[in-house]
Amino acid sequence: MSDQPGDPALFFEKHVFMCTNSREPGHKRGCCAEKDAEDLRNYMKAEAKQMGLEGVRINSSGCLDRCEIGPNVVIYPEGVWYRCSNFEEIDEVLQTHLAEGGRVERLMHQPEDGPKKA
Ligand code: FES
Repeated sequence: MSDQPGDPALFFEKHVFMCTNSREPGHKRGCCAEKDAEDLRNYMKAEAKQMGLEGVRINSSGCLDRCEIGPNVVIYPEGVWYRCSNFEEIDEVLQTHLAEGGRVERLMHQPEDGPKKA
């Protein structure tokens, strides 16, 4: 699905970004890396492959600006954000959102979550 006529077709059906940004210990915002985001991302990628999910790409990202409520995952094109802090929650998002097209509402961020915009 494209937003404007003439836009190219999506290259990936679902494009998942998991923040693995790292900051120095004690930083006031913290970071996703200190909450095991690298292991979670590696697990998510391996499990997606194991499940045979087609058209799904799982990438690491830099800071997504919701550091305090991470580890953060965002899925496009729908733009749904999740906080996934363990392997079981990753499994839920893989199965319910990516495999079945549903939502894991209890893990979803809301628009008001994260830093307040000036
Ligand atoms: S460090 Fe992950 S959102 Fe900022």
